[in-house]
Amino acid sequence: MKTRITELFGIKYPIQCGGMLWLATPELAAAISNTGAMGNLTSGNYNKGDELRAAIDRTRELTALPFIVNITTMPSIRLPVELLQEFFRICCERKVTAIEIAGAPVDKFLGPAYMPLAKEAGVKVLHKVGTVRHAEHAQKVGYDAITIAGFEEGGFPHKDNVSTLVLLPIVAESVDLPILAAGGMVDGKSLAAALALGADGVMMATRFLATKDCKVHPAIHQMILDKKENDTGLGLRKLLGNFGLQVRALRNDIMKRIEEVEEHGGDFTELFPLISGERARQVWQNGDAEHAMLTVGQSIGRINDIPTAAELVQRMVAEAEEALRLSLKKITA
Ligand SMILES: Cc1cc2nc3c(=O)[nH]c(=O)nc-3n(C[C@H](O)[C@H](O)[C@H](O)COP(=O)(O)O)c2cc1C
Repeated sequence: MKTRITELFGIKYPIQCGGMLWLATPELAAAISNTGAMGNLTSGNYNKGDELRAAIDRTRELTALPFIVNITTMPSIRLPVELLQEFFRICCERKVTAIEIAGAPVDKFLGPAYMPLAKEAGVKVLHKVGTVRHAEHAQKVGYDAITIAGFEEGGFPHKDNVSTLVLLPIVAESVDLPILAAGGMVDGKSLAAALALGADGVMMATRFLATKDCKVHPAIHQMILDKKENDTGLGLRKLLGNFGLQVRALRNDIMKRIEEVEEHGGDFTELFPLISGERARQVWQNGDAEHAMLTVGQSIGRINDIPTAAELVQRMVAEAEEALRLSLKKITA
């Protein structure tokens, strides 16, 4: 498969893993990169620059192939802007293949000096966006690629509530950059549809979480197999609305409590114990899925097995070719 994304990143298949706090580790990133797709090392896993440096080096010990480093540019107590700036400089210093920015754009959040730094280092910068105007801004300030994520996605979709099916073709007609489609992507049919709608590849996270290479408690994998497409919900619209965002997560006890707090106008101090990343970190490992805000996408309804990352990617590529062939057959019959 050859698309603008495979060419840009030097990868075999146009499939990328999205950032996943606590889960997108060197081991998972390398396992995915070794399939010919693009693994993701999420910088939010680390509290210090040296920890990220060590994680990049560890990933390189496990794979000689390209991977992308996620930097989530959202206000955070644990990850102040100075640390995110340091993460960005480390990615340039270590000359990683690419940086995935999710949240506010680099020029506005980290500062105008950062994009030129990446260009100088030969590091590609991709921006994950949820609106057409953010895609246009990304093109204007020199990003190399974008990911367009509709509100099906797990994590922090834009508050506009527009689906990938609608956003993707509009963005593909509005900007001239390589595009990854995200939100609802799980298999070769998704990949074929994304290519038909104007994307150059897909980005997925929930689907990669549901692989043997993602080391979570077995009860988490079982929960993903059991849940359906309507088992996720949107929340935190008051807390995150000012940033244009909201959260999509598993509908569980914690999400109900978060909803109650938002409804009675509770503030951040009341919400923090419920939404803290530390809670999610524990739950991925102890398997008690009711007790943290677990960011998963509607794609959860289309996940019916736990393959290895290699099995998943191979199957997707074969399925995409088959799906495109069958679609052509339908219209030419
Ligand atoms: C478990 C999990 C953790 C995530 N953590 C992050 C994160 O730290 N930073 C980020 O930008 N996006 C994060 N996301 C969002 C994904 O990178 C991606 O945008 C989204 O999940 C794509 O939709 P999908 O899950 O339906 O494939 C996370 C998603 C999941 C499933």
